[in-house]
Amino acid sequence: MMESNGKIWLNGSFVDWNQAKIHVLTHALHYATGVFEGIRCYKTVNGPAIFRLSDHMQRLIDSGRIYFMDLGYTRERLERAAIDTVKANGMQECYIRPIAYYGYGKMGVNPMPNKVSVAIAVWKWDEYLKAGSAGGGEEKGARLMISSWTRIDIRAMPMHAKATANYANSALARVEAIKAGFDEAIMLNASGHVVEASAENIFIVKNGTIVTPPTTSGALAGITRDSMLTLAKENEIPVQIRDISRDELYLADEVFLTGTAAEVKPVSEIDNRKIGSGNVGETTKRLRSIFETVVSGKDKKFSKIWLTPVN
Ligand SMILES: Cc1ncc(COP(=O)(O)O)c(C=O)c1O
Repeated sequence: MMESNGKIWLNGSFVDWNQAKIHVLTHALHYATGVFEGIRCYKTVNGPAIFRLSDHMQRLIDSGRIYFMDLGYTRERLERAAIDTVKANGMQECYIRPIAYYGYGKMGVNPMPNKVSVAIAVWKWDEYLKAGSAGGGEEKGARLMISSWTRIDIRAMPMHAKATANYANSALARVEAIKAGFDEAIMLNASGHVVEASAENIFIVKNGTIVTPPTTSGALAGITRDSMLTLAKENEIPVQIRDISRDELYLADEVFLTGTAAEVKPVSEIDNRKIGSGNVGETTKRLRSIFETVVSGKDKKFSKIWLTPVN
């Protein structure tokens, strides 16, 4: 259960956590007409700071735009609301969940007659995708399987939108993986190419180059993915954006996932095949450590560009 004593920002003002309620005939509940974000606030050397806040709020607005959904707030206003919500809850570090959705009014598939609501909640969300230990102190990454579910085709849904509707597909894959004893699922697209995990982007490392699928595969244009690509280039780690086949995963030297909730997560096994040595790879470790330096406010260049102080 989640903690229930905080405040949630709802349509411009704060309400008590337990009072942030919606009607059962809310359009988004029935027809998945919502768009959302996941953002992290980190405890940095200069106090709490939100990672890539503008980029996340811009993606929220863009997601809405794809669905003809006018959020009714500027990006700056949404940024301010996120900062205020972190402050109102006295958080040093947390996960931030903005959501915009069509509300209660008129049922039927067409959402347009309904009002759009916007909410922002924050909570503590530490270990999202557990990485285990092999015993003997060696860190183990996650165990993944290829889902039997195909990732939503870009001809069926606009996958640049981070829409609630996309997550029924993700949940099917995630539940399938968990029931089969794995930590997470990797999804392929209708052409059989690797897309992403149920809620993270995917990277492979082969001969020192990091490779990730293009967003035209159907993968979300992840902000952690973009941060990884930028930080790899900055540190002279070669980068490729291209299609990846299923068997390339098995032969990769390293595999890791990226996402706001999961951060940088090493992968040790896919479909019961060991990836590389089966331990966390050197490039993954290096990139994770660079990422941690940035989000803890200790990187001279990127901490300044990507972190918005709360106070
Ligand atoms: C399907 C999917 N892919 C990728 C990501 C990673 O995106 P980001 O790094 O912006 O959190 C997420 C998480 O938001 C996701 O849900």
